[in-house]
Amino acid sequence: MIIVRDKIDLRNRLHSFRNSRPSGRVGFVPTMGFLHDGHRSLMKAARTENECVVVSLFVNPTQFGPGEDFESYPRDEDRDFAICSNENVDYIFTPAVDVMYPPEPLTTVSVSVLTESLCGRHRPGHFHGVTTIVTKLFNIVQPDNAYFGQKDAQQVLVIKKMVEDLDFPIRVVICPTVREPDGLAMSSRNIRLSPTARKIAPVVYHALKEAQDMVRNGERDVGKILLGARSALEQYDKISVQYLDCRDRSTLKSLVYLDRPALLATAVFLDSVRLIDNVFLEPGEASL
Ligand code: PAF
Repeated sequence: MIIVRDKIDLRNRLHSFRNSRPSGRVGFVPTMGFLHDGHRSLMKAARTENECVVVSLFVNPTQFGPGEDFESYPRDEDRDFAICSNENVDYIFTPAVDVMYPPEPLTTVSVSVLTESLCGRHRPGHFHGVTTIVTKLFNIVQPDNAYFGQKDAQQVLVIKKMVEDLDFPIRVVICPTVREPDGLAMSSRNIRLSPTARKIAPVVYHALKEAQDMVRNGERDVGKILLGARSALEQYDKISVQYLDCRDRSTLKSLVYLDRPALLATAVFLDSVRLIDNVFLEPGEASL
């Protein structure tokens, strides 16, 4: 495993790889580090499908808003290196901020409509930061396949649309959310939960599962489904719901009646830690 901090260096190394293995595929796992089993599952998928695997570790400042947790975002480079080495990663790309962002860049990449609801509504500028950094990383790595987790459901839709609209010759692979045994979705931010908050945290997923059960039992009124999930979340004083929303699974258009596959997504603050999670609602699944 080779650790690379410079973008030209990485480009040259990947150029040599492609020259030596003309049909060799490059798989790319972009991350912000502090890796967990969710990231591991992306690396495993990349390892199975590609001859060369690149993981980036970069806490991207432009996707954090003022007052968000850029400074306190958990970081542990040595631990991340060990995890990547265990997963047989070929290259780790871990650039400094000034390597990725030379002074005063004037160009950004943004996707409209899909970024206006859910997390995008509450984190203005967040997705512009994500699509800009992912574009830059895609241009540096030029992967054949890029791997993302379904836990970031809106990010996945936004990146897929960007890849389609801008003709990136990249296959975007979405891997399922990886959960702790009690249902909590794996996240680098989970480390910041206090012991009490950690005990409460699985309710986020359980509330979404309750909504899925309502749909399986025939409920189609989105207002009622949201109310059920919200009361499950709000039974805990420590939880403050930032949003809980049910939208068309592909377009993110708002839904009043569940007549098509939908995404039920939420962001909550548990103490000061922001947790997100989502499930799909399939109206075809009613067991009535
Ligand atoms: O999902 C993340 O960790 C980040 O948003 C990403 C895709 C690595 C861009 O910084």
